[in-house]
Formats: sequence, structure tokens, C-alpha cells
Amino acid sequence: NDMLSGAFTWKAPSNIALVKYWGKHGNQLPANPSVSFTLDHCATITTLRFEKRDKPAEAFGMEVFFEGVINDGFRPKILGFMERIEPYLPFLRNYHFTVHTSNSFPHSSGIASSASGMSALALCFMSLERELSGGMSEAFFYRKASFLARLGSGSACRSIGGGLIVWGTHKEIPGSSDLYGIGYPGEVHPVFRGYRDTVLLVDRGKKQVSSTAGHGLMKGHPFAAQRFLQASSNISELIPVLGNGDLRAFIRLVESEALTLHAMMMTGSPYYMLMQPATLQVIRKIWEFREESGCPACFTLDAGANVHLLYPGEEKKRVMEFINSELVAYCENEQYICDRVGEGAFLI
Ligand code: PMV
Repeated sequence: NDMLSGAFTWKAPSNIALVKYWGKHGNQLPANPSVSFTLDHCATITTLRFEKRDKPAEAFGMEVFFEGVINDGFRPKILGFMERIEPYLPFLRNYHFTVHTSNSFPHSSGIASSASGMSALALCFMSLERELSGGMSEAFFYRKASFLARLGSGSACRSIGGGLIVWGTHKEIPGSSDLYGIGYPGEVHPVFRGYRDTVLLVDRGKKQVSSTAGHGLMKGHPFAAQRFLQASSNISELIPVLGNGDLRAFIRLVESEALTLHAMMMTGSPYYMLMQPATLQVIRKIWEFREESGCPACFTLDAGANVHLLYPGEEKKRVMEFINSELVAYCENEQYICDRVGEGAFLI
């Protein structure tokens, strides 16, 4: 099957970790297992155009456009990604590629786009692989896409499927692997299907610490070994909670994971403080609101200052009132992004 030219377009979502991945080894293998919600609204749309070359070339042929404009900033990242996936996709030097990519969330919102971006691109390459190899099972297609996405950005392997995703081997989760993400196979209480994530844009600036540097901090970190064990035991505790919908226990685990991620950065060498004053003010407001209203809303954080407010869909009305009256004051330009648990990536 010879493909001379054509294009594939995929839309892939971002994800938010409940139990965090922080620390890696070998070829992008996680130091501990992680669990995430796949998001819906925050996503990347990527078109990969390909044109067969007369003969395989020394250098990769790749041009990159971001939101319609040629982008030489993303190009080295994508070339590095191609180098890492070439052993698994031997056709890469036979084609000239053009990538057009755009995000559904505001540019420079402080929202990381590496997970959605790398998973969208991995899926585009897999679509070509599927054509060239004369077809494959859906299961194999998605598993290999996740495997490839992982080589672009670890957390990107959790941005292929929908719902709850696990990445990293965990003894109580059958099928879990360090090599790719899988759909969480356990029982999931209906409350988690309609979960919301409102991202409060406290700081839209560039990330202070790249995640590569962040993962590097865990090498030789005095608390690393304990942290990796804790992540696994937090997943063990989360398994029954996901099944029975015990939101008090869910909140305790999720907030503790977020604070631990930041504690690792504060206690590393060098040390970093990625929270801003407004991050702490928002967290205090969320605690007050929960105490006073009994509403089971909680926060989580990525490696940055923005706060993700997580809550069940049926709480939407009173949480949005709370956000609009109490929290927008702490957001840059009063901006926030409303998202929810989504269905995963799809071909356009
Ligand atoms: O995928 P990376 O290398 O950008 O790492 C992301 C790590 C966190 O977002 C901080 C946590 C996680 O599990 O997503």
C-alpha cells in the first residue's frame, strides 16, 4: 500500500492528573503510576500533510505552522519527537511533512499544550502507519498512539482515550503499563462521569520550570523514593473511592497530591516556588466555600500557578456563582476556562 500524498487531522484533549506523574527514568518511563481525567474543551487540533519523497532523505522534512503562522519554535520539539519515534515508525524519512496545529484554549493562558499537542501528532502519524501497513485493530492503533505520544511528553500518553486514564504499572490495576496509558478498568461511580474542571487562570505567564527540568529535580531528591511509594499507595486508596463515589476521600487524596507535587519542587535542589500569592488565596477561598456550603469542590494544580477547580456536574450552578463572586478577582483579566471530563481524541 503506497501513499503518495494526503493529510490526516486529529483533535486530542488535554488531561488533568489526580495522582501526579513527577519523576521519570530511561526512555520516558514514569517513576510512579498516575491517574487522570481526560478533558473535553481544552484540546489541540493538528493536521499532518504528507508527500512522498523521490528517495528517503538524510534529514526529516518537516514544516510547522501554529495557528496559521510558520513556527520555528515548535519545530525542534517536533524534530526531537520524530527522532524518538523513528524506531517504531520507519517511514518518517520517506515523506515530507507539514504540520498545522492550533489550540482551543487561549494562547499563553499558562495552560500546557504538550499533552494534547503530542497526542494529536502521534495520532496523525499512526493514521499514516495504519494506511501503510494495510490496517490494524482499533485496540492496537490506540495503544501504539499512546506509546508514541509518551515519547513526546509523558503525560501525553494519557490524552488518547476518554474518562479516567491510568499510566504506569500498578499491581492492583490489570493491564496497566509504564509504556502507555489505558482506560481505568475498575468500577467508576456515575458522579465522576460528569465531573467538571474550571481552570482559574491565576498566572498566564510562561512556566517557570520546564517539565523536563522538573522531572530532573526528582533525581537525587531526598524525598523521591518515599514520594514514588506514596503515589502508588494513593492509587490503591483511590480505587475503592472511584467505585463508591466517596467525595470526602476523593478530595483528601486529590488535594494532597497537588500539594505534594509542589512540595517536591519546594524541597528540590535547586528549589522552586510555582504558586503565586493568588494561588494560595484561591485555595483558601475554596476551603472556606467547602466548609460553609458543604459543596464537594476541590482543587488540583499542575506544575504552575493556575488552579483547577474540580466538582461534580450537579454542583455546577452554585460553584459557578462562587467562582463569579469570589474567585474571578484573583484571575488575570478575570479569565477562567470551563472544562469537563471528555471522551478522548477523535479523527476529523
Ligand atoms: O508530561 P510532562 O513531562 O509535561 O509532565 C507533566 C507532569 C504534571 O503535569 C505536573 C503531572 C501530571 O501527571 O500530569
